[in-house]
Amino acid sequence: MSRKTLNNIRKLKNKGEKIACLTAYDASFAGLIEEAGTDIILVGDSLGMVIQGHDSTLPVTVDNMIYHCQLVEKGTQTAFLIVDMPFMSYATPDIALNTATRLMQEGQAQMVKLEGGIWVSDTVKMLTERGIPVCGHIGLTPQSVHQLGGYHVQGRTEVRAEKLRQDALALQTAGASLIVLECMPDELVREITQTLDIPVIGIGAGNGCDGQVLVLYDLLGIFPKMPSFAKNFLAETNSIQEAVKLYVQAVKEGSFPSSEHIFK
Ligand code: KIV
Repeated sequence: MSRKTLNNIRKLKNKGEKIACLTAYDASFAGLIEEAGTDIILVGDSLGMVIQGHDSTLPVTVDNMIYHCQLVEKGTQTAFLIVDMPFMSYATPDIALNTATRLMQEGQAQMVKLEGGIWVSDTVKMLTERGIPVCGHIGLTPQSVHQLGGYHVQGRTEVRAEKLRQDALALQTAGASLIVLECMPDELVREITQTLDIPVIGIGAGNGCDGQVLVLYDLLGIFPKMPSFAKNFLAETNSIQEAVKLYVQAVKEGSFPSSEHIFK
């Protein structure tokens, strides 16, 4: 069995099939998630909070990301594998190239994800020109939590919404092949998704995008600070396998997120 490729992910968007993505940080959960039919596994720097117990993702290091990516890679065979570039590991294009090279070579990721819009577009261009696929991430960008003043919905005013529209386009133009939109109003996300050619994956971003991602520990209801947009799927069944399958099914049929998990 071979791993899904970026082309397989693009085809899902073109066919109108929703893309199911989940985070994982170790081999056992990654294998279970893959088995449940998840298309993409993200080794997220959310591990700083849900695995390491920090208040934010800022303390996570490149070595941490490589370690967890190696575990997830070992536990999977077919899922498309994305890894987060942690805080300050892409502060300049040169640092970014070094980080991304390590994440691909040592971590064995298929794609790197970084947070930011127009300001990272030079870095995205540089990485993609060198054959490193990039996933952008805008809206609520947890690595900027102190700058943003907390974990809040982004893009509520017209000025901020316009900035996010421009960020999304800049990332696509720079060569990003996927984009994550986090904690944004449903209508704005629908608009951006219709404008872009690349697949858009939402988290707390309504159900108008091409796919969804959730932090695994939120789906299982085991993280004490679960965000309001997340859903505890384990509450509906008594098996972790079934909970993950319910999530994948709900994403594929478009029933998650439903109105109580959507920001207007
Ligand atoms: O770190 C992470 O898990 C993420 C997702 C929440 C999108 O970036």
